[in-house]
Amino acid sequence: MAEGEVICECFGVTDLEVIRAIKESNLHSVEEITNFTKAGGGCGKCEEKLEALLAETFSDGLKVVVPRKKNKRMTTLQKIKKIEDILEREIRPGLRMDGGDIELIDVDGDYVIVSLRGQCTSCFKSQTTIKEFVEKKLREQVLETLIVEEDK
Ligand code: FES
Repeated sequence: MAEGEVICECFGVTDLEVIRAIKESNLHSVEEITNFTKAGGGCGKCEEKLEALLAETFSDGLKVVVPRKKNKRMTTLQKIKKIEDILEREIRPGLRMDGGDIELIDVDGDYVIVSLRGQCTSCFKSQTTIKEFVEKKLREQVLETLIVEEDK
């Protein structure tokens, strides 16, 4: 019969699987859902849906403790996925127009290590590109504490 609707695209987890995990394992937070089902452990796009499922599941009478919009801590995997996404959609196209490119080398806490490619490597403005363009975009769209550095 119905297998439910996929809530977390990154890991293909459905709402029914999440609800079952919430009930059976008595989960009370998105972090716990992620630990049990992986849902929410990737790009993080599904977190609001997971919170809604928590609220709905507990509204049938069980104890309700739904963490509302708290300061979300992102896992390293979530950061990497979001950063890759922003690099691909918003940063690479601009660099490629000038014959350059950028590669994500590593993410360590708030430090994002990137490497410029193509024309960007010899461009005297590469530091400005990293700080004023890449870091600014990633801070706006991923996490405001990120620090972008170039891999030397
Ligand atoms: S859609 Fe759930 S983590 Fe990406």
